[in-house]
Amino acid sequence: MNNAEAETDIETETSSTANGKAVGRTAVLSRRFVLLASLVTFLFIIALVPYLLYRNILHQNFREASLDSYPSPKKIIAKLHCPVKPNASITGNLEARRQPLFRLPLRTHRRNIVDARGERVKLMSTNWYGASDEDFVPGGLDVRHRREIAATIRDMGFNSVRLPYSDEMVMTNPDVPMKFWSQNADLLNETARRRSHRRTNERGQRTRSPLSGDQVDTDEEGNRQPNSRTAQPVYIDGKNDTSNIIVKALDVFDAVITALTDEGIAVIVNDHITQARWCCDANLCDATWSNDYLGKVCRIRQTEEQWIQNWEHVMRPHIDNPLVIGADLRNENRSPLGKMLWATWAAAAEKAANRLHALQPNWLMFVEGVASGNYLQGVRSHPVNPTVANRVVYSAHIYGWSGWGSLLKGPYWSRDFASFSYDMFDNWGFLLAEDIAPVWVGEFGAPDRPNTGDLNYWVNLMSFLDEVDADWGYWALNPRKPSGNETESYSLLRDDWVTPTCDYRMYDMLAKLGLRPYNSTWPLPETTSTAAPTRTARPVAPADGKQVPLGHL
Ligand SMILES: *[C@@H]1O[C@H](CO)[C@@H](O)[C@H](O)[C@H]1NC(C)=O
Ligand SMILES: *[C@@H]1O[C@H](CO)[C@@H](O)[C@H](O)[C@H]1NC(C)=O
Ligand SMILES: *[C@@H]1O[C@H](CO)[C@@H](O)[C@H](O)[C@H]1NC(C)=O
Ligand SMILES: *[C@@H]1O[C@H](CO)[C@@H](O)[C@H](O)[C@H]1NC(C)=O
Ligand SMILES: *[C@@H]1O[C@H](CO)[C@@H](O)[C@H](O)[C@H]1NC(C)=O
Repeated sequence: MNNAEAETDIETETSSTANGKAVGRTAVLSRRFVLLASLVTFLFIIALVPYLLYRNILHQNFREASLDSYPSPKKIIAKLHCPVKPNASITGNLEARRQPLFRLPLRTHRRNIVDARGERVKLMSTNWYGASDEDFVPGGLDVRHRREIAATIRDMGFNSVRLPYSDEMVMTNPDVPMKFWSQNADLLNETARRRSHRRTNERGQRTRSPLSGDQVDTDEEGNRQPNSRTAQPVYIDGKNDTSNIIVKALDVFDAVITALTDEGIAVIVNDHITQARWCCDANLCDATWSNDYLGKVCRIRQTEEQWIQNWEHVMRPHIDNPLVIGADLRNENRSPLGKMLWATWAAAAEKAANRLHALQPNWLMFVEGVASGNYLQGVRSHPVNPTVANRVVYSAHIYGWSGWGSLLKGPYWSRDFASFSYDMFDNWGFLLAEDIAPVWVGEFGAPDRPNTGDLNYWVNLMSFLDEVDADWGYWALNPRKPSGNETESYSLLRDDWVTPTCDYRMYDMLAKLGLRPYNSTWPLPETTSTAAPTRTARPVAPADGKQVPLGHL
């Protein structure tokens, strides 16, 4: 029934009395008015969305930024002793270098991560990606030996590495072609040694039956692994039986972890994505820790239980390596429900934490916010509380494009500091300011040649991290992306995997975030901790003038 018909009906019905007629006319008028108002409102909203999109997101008009406010790269190198001489460590005092950078095990105490003596340890990490991507292997092993890369990381001043994996890597544990680790030929020997070691571990297991992947990993197809049953290394010189050794993704992953911890670097293992590929797009199969609710749509399907078993499988070989300090349980959970996801995620994280603590109660559990790692307000009502206390570190990821959830204010690259810091406080800074729990900003980064938006975001972030003195992890070390050998503009290393970029980003990390490159003339960590001195972090006042309690900082 259209409006004309409706009006005719009303007219007919109301013609009986004059009074009725007047009421009818009013009804028609008000109906027209409501229709018109709805139409206007509708058009207004239709027009507002693209306008805001344009004003806050599309109309960025960013140019290449001037870095004049920073010293020249030459001066950065000179002033801050930014390491330009690669490999200093390997030729330096090895014993000194292998001292862990802090006293283990680590715990959390209010807003800090603390060492065995209760002194603050500030995690200053870099992300080393690749194992979670389509080649199943951390980047650079075709360019440098893993020990050299580990030494470079320590020379640059990082005390920890975030090492991502994909669930697909754990569940399929594929062979990794030698071209991806050509500078690590000793992986053949190492793999044979490790396999036999793993078998020993497996027998001395404290818990659980093996994951199906274990069969592939330890048993192999019968005689393809003649040496895996003995503790003897495989001698590839003289008698050539390398053809018997198949280096698998988990072999490489474990070897990289050991190379890092041998250099004294702490490792935070991270479940990055379900299907092995670059993270993170809108594909729901990879959006959260489980995807079985989607039915058979996903190439790699996993239940929550599978996700936890993958974790146990990845962590088990490192139970007795104290420098494997913990697990970043899942990268950037995101869903159309956005912030609504927290309670479910917190429950799952708690479950995984308890299961991992059954293997090693010392492990810290890093729990990222929802809405792509940005949002941790949910902690107020639903903190993650594993049975083992003082182990939870929350984690936020902050990029220039983050903040997309707020159409009104726009992404962080277009915000002023007041707006940016207000969001940071609201999303996660309150955990530090109110002395609730430590926060490790496990991902952030900017390109070597930033545009004005990138630089605006970067400068604001550096100021904020400086003020709240959060733990942090830069994304990323790698000079190339795995897919198509694409240049990684966020890299801190050149293509040789040994020369640091030493540009404005290193400068700020050194000047503002406490990064301190290794210098063999410095005393051993026994007397100086690389942990930034426990200083009183003064929170920035949020933009609206709301005061943050300072009492217990
Ligand atoms: C190490 O520190 C000493 C003393 O601060 C300094 O003179 C020297 O240049 C530094 N070396 C490097 C490689 O940074
Ligand atoms: C680093 O040291 C190792 C071992 O001494 C050596 O084989 C390698 O060539 C060195 N790399 C560089 C870049 O000097
Ligand atoms: C493998 O181990 C054997 C025995 O220790 C050694 O002779 C050989 O050089 C090793 N090969 C590699 C590539 O490290
Ligand atoms: C030794 O084994 C490797 C790997 O299978 C193979 O490429 C190489 O040709 C073998 N060398 C000899 C001398 O058989
Ligand atoms: C990637 O590109 C760099 C620079 O051109 C080159 O040195 C390197 O060999 C390439 N790697 C691969 C796997 O193609």
